[in-house]
Amino acid sequence: MFGKIAERLAGKNILITGASTGIGYHTAKYFAEAGAGNIKLILTARRVDKLVALKEELVKAYPSIQVFTSALDVSKTETIAPFLSGLPTEFAEVDILVNNAGKALGLDQVGSVPEEDVNEMFQTNVLGMIQMTQLVLKQMKARNTGDIIQLGSVAGREAYPGGGIYCATKAALRAFTTAMRKELINTKIRIIEIQPGNVATEEFSLVRFKGDATKAASVYKDTEPLYGEDVAELIVFAATRKENTVIAETLIFGNNQASPFHIYRGPQTS
Ligand SMILES: NC(=O)c1ccc[n+]([C@@H]2O[C@H](COP(=O)([O-])OP(=O)(O)OC[C@H]3O[C@@H](n4cnc5c(N)ncnc54)[C@H](OP(=O)(O)O)[C@@H]3O)[C@@H](O)[C@H]2O)c1
Repeated sequence: MFGKIAERLAGKNILITGASTGIGYHTAKYFAEAGAGNIKLILTARRVDKLVALKEELVKAYPSIQVFTSALDVSKTETIAPFLSGLPTEFAEVDILVNNAGKALGLDQVGSVPEEDVNEMFQTNVLGMIQMTQLVLKQMKARNTGDIIQLGSVAGREAYPGGGIYCATKAALRAFTTAMRKELINTKIRIIEIQPGNVATEEFSLVRFKGDATKAASVYKDTEPLYGEDVAELIVFAATRKENTVIAETLIFGNNQASPFHIYRGPQTS
């Protein structure tokens, strides 16, 4: 049964946004392992040096793998079409798109959220994701095949104080994703949304607290959060089901959280 996973991934061309660290990074590694290297990966993020290091690691471990790396800032939505049309021919047709690039900035309450944070979160988590999806979906529709995997969040289902903007971006992703799934119900294109609770990736909380490592670490204090690997495993699992099987939505969270649905509890003081 498990041998089928590599078979199902064979030759697939997988585009991951935000692959330089965290969930995106681990997803690239898990796809490579699950496909035994017989896949193509398009790895994008703003920090290309990290993508190149990951590519080197993957090529060493899996000599048959093909990896294309490119700097891409999804918040600059006008750069996404030229990026896609500039892909080398062998990477041009995307089989699996993982819309992973995203961020939370701050825990400011409504009325005090800096306008630049509002714009950056919406540009990255919503407008960049929508632009990428629209363009890749055009090709998938023409071929009537493909998987789009969306990194939603429990925050898109359950808003929390201080998360007004981030939660709104993930609720927007959820609505967009649900509509798209319904539109494509008679096709072979699968629309999958993964909704994690707290994931202790190296940078997510550091980015949220703008480099304050103490605050960032305290978010996970006395809990058993998920890690990037755990979410990556689920993404690869969803993408490697039989083609008739759609894992539409998956809410996933670690044990020992403050509460099952309000998974984000903010930095702890003691
Ligand atoms: N960690 C959590 O608790 C959690 C929970 C639920 C959902 N999620 C969602 O899961 C996704 C990944 O989270 P994570 O924890 O892996 O975050 P992370 O560790 O902070 O990584 C975020 C990735 O996105 C990239 N990125 C940031 N801004 C970008 C931009 N404008 N254009 C392109 N790439 C950009 C970053 O790379 P560069 O800086 O190199 O561009 C990085 O590779 C996000 O959508 C997040 O909202 C996370």
